[in-house]
Amino acid sequence: MSTIKSVSKESRIFEPPAAFAQQARVSTREQYDALYRRSIDDPEGFWGDLASELHWFSKPTKIRQWDPPFAKWFEDGTTNLAYNCLDRHVAEGRGDRVALVWEGEPGETLTFTYAELSRQVQRFANGLLRAGVVEGDRVVIYMGMVPEAAIAMLACARIGAVHSVIFGGFAADAVRDRVLDAGATTILTQDGAWRRGKVVALKAQVDKALEQCPDVARTIVLRRTGNEITMKEGRDHEWTAVLEGVSDEHQAPALPAEHPLFILYTSGTTGKPKGVLHTTGGYMVGTYVTTKYVFDLRDDDVYWCTADVGWITGHSYIAYGPLTNGATVLMYEGAPNHPGLDRFWEIIAKHQVTIFYTAPTAIRAFIKWGDEHPSKHDLSSLRLLGTVGEPINPEAWMWYRRVIGGDRCPIIDTWWQTETGAIMMTPLPGAIPAKPGSCTLPFFGVSPKILREDGSEAETNEGGYLVIDQPWPSMLRTVWGNDERFRQGYFSRFPGKYFTGDGARRDEHGYFWVMGRVDDVVNVSGHRLGTAELESALVAHPTVAEAAVVARPDELTGQALVAFVTLKGGVTPSGELKKELADHVGNEIGKFARPASVRFADAVPKTRSGKIMRRLLAELAAGKEPAGDVTTLEDISVLAALRGDDE
Ligand code: PRX
Repeated sequence: MSTIKSVSKESRIFEPPAAFAQQARVSTREQYDALYRRSIDDPEGFWGDLASELHWFSKPTKIRQWDPPFAKWFEDGTTNLAYNCLDRHVAEGRGDRVALVWEGEPGETLTFTYAELSRQVQRFANGLLRAGVVEGDRVVIYMGMVPEAAIAMLACARIGAVHSVIFGGFAADAVRDRVLDAGATTILTQDGAWRRGKVVALKAQVDKALEQCPDVARTIVLRRTGNEITMKEGRDHEWTAVLEGVSDEHQAPALPAEHPLFILYTSGTTGKPKGVLHTTGGYMVGTYVTTKYVFDLRDDDVYWCTADVGWITGHSYIAYGPLTNGATVLMYEGAPNHPGLDRFWEIIAKHQVTIFYTAPTAIRAFIKWGDEHPSKHDLSSLRLLGTVGEPINPEAWMWYRRVIGGDRCPIIDTWWQTETGAIMMTPLPGAIPAKPGSCTLPFFGVSPKILREDGSEAETNEGGYLVIDQPWPSMLRTVWGNDERFRQGYFSRFPGKYFTGDGARRDEHGYFWVMGRVDDVVNVSGHRLGTAELESALVAHPTVAEAAVVARPDELTGQALVAFVTLKGGVTPSGELKKELADHVGNEIGKFARPASVRFADAVPKTRSGKIMRRLLAELAAGKEPAGDVTTLEDISVLAALRGDDE
């Protein structure tokens, strides 16, 4: 009763390609095992050594302190993250390397070397200081995917201001709530951002939000789209004016390792957003080391992570991890389907991208749009593919490998969270054989366990609650301004252990299979099932592009399953197909799991980070009007369309 029944039957295994393994940092399972063992047996030695690859103004001697739920890392060290991202490379003779290649949605390209990016960040840091921003101030960054967003983050980190990036797709109310919770004094924004050829009017949303945020002293506004905006005298400043006459030399201050670095509000599917707090030293080391080993960067790599800087993936794996490693990072401003459905593949061919990191929700969209779009372009520059954000359905994984990776590129399925700051479980691409749908093994220093309700450890292949029982450098330090919520939310279910909120199982090879959030667990006839596995079975059917499975109350079975299904382009919906799909799940997983009803939908409601909002679907499936928070919903019109659908 207490555990989560796992029904996934995936058994395919893909070894790391020999050519890839040969030049990888970690190229055998034995090497991984040895490093992993040291990281667990001697965390202080392990992390102390890796930390010393970076620049410290004073080297840490206290590596780790653990007073659950509070961790401190490198506490007596002082450093500067922006210095490590930029100045360090320039000082070591890599100033001419390309740091950032930026492609705007309309098609323009900008390139910044490490030396140039460093100068721009120093200049903006000076601009912020002159405008009155001081160390410790919270600065909200509400921008699109422009280079200035990255420059702004780095400039804040440089002067010790705490940034809080708010995804540009959020509207005024969500901005207001986050600004108030963070106690921000400064907002960095744009007139508008480009999205699918249209202007998303960011400054107008800021104006609305600020009607209720009396403590915001200033905004700094970048002109990008040229739409008309109102500027409030004394409060709103032009980006160019802030930089006028400002020097591009700024000496990076030595900041304590535990100095707050940023607050990022989580994309939770329920309740009020939480301000996850990350601090400087541990986050720096965690993102640096994971990027180095997981993406196994080479000098000639062009690395592209498609996330928005408004999400943790954008923080850790567009900005801080790759830049501390001196990588060449591609940043794209716009939508994957503008002007055509092949925009991503065109970008890969144009910039000769070698590493591509995206989300399962995007992969399912690519599948829906059809193979002809990637097939039009030469993707042979790619050598490594990654995914993050949700469990990836094995069929989507296979498609990714075949169509995008040409059956040649390893795939890293990286499990982690806003709270973990850095990748926690993933195959190392040169060393660990992959199984489609599994994030495989823990990264160095990560100690995951699968527990039953009573706290005892689950057996092999028995689903349970995923916890981490040792601290790691990039873990969240608290929920901003709310230690109690931090303790309650993460450390109360299993005292002293970090509870991830995810269900998972560990298979006979020790591989982890994350089944999704435990609040996405359904209970049918006494079987607790992870909805992700049921959805995976549906997506394996040739007609299905995407599926969301929820439960509604049922007198007979406790809960009955309702499947919302988006069909692939060109497939005609019919009553017969509904039955066929329900049967398909019954056959794949077991009769008890056969959905009681299948509904076709053009799209399913998702959070802005691409997670299916099952709470809303469950309310619809139960015949209720969705209540509660919908501010994280990406496209409100999806809800209206679903309401109208009959069974
Ligand atoms: O449920 C897991 C899922 O996404 C959650 C974390 O979401 P967020 O904080 O928005 O961060 C997303 C980007 C790191 C996790 O609790 N998740 C993320 N990656 C995976 C995953 N589930 C399965 N496999 C993954 N690779």
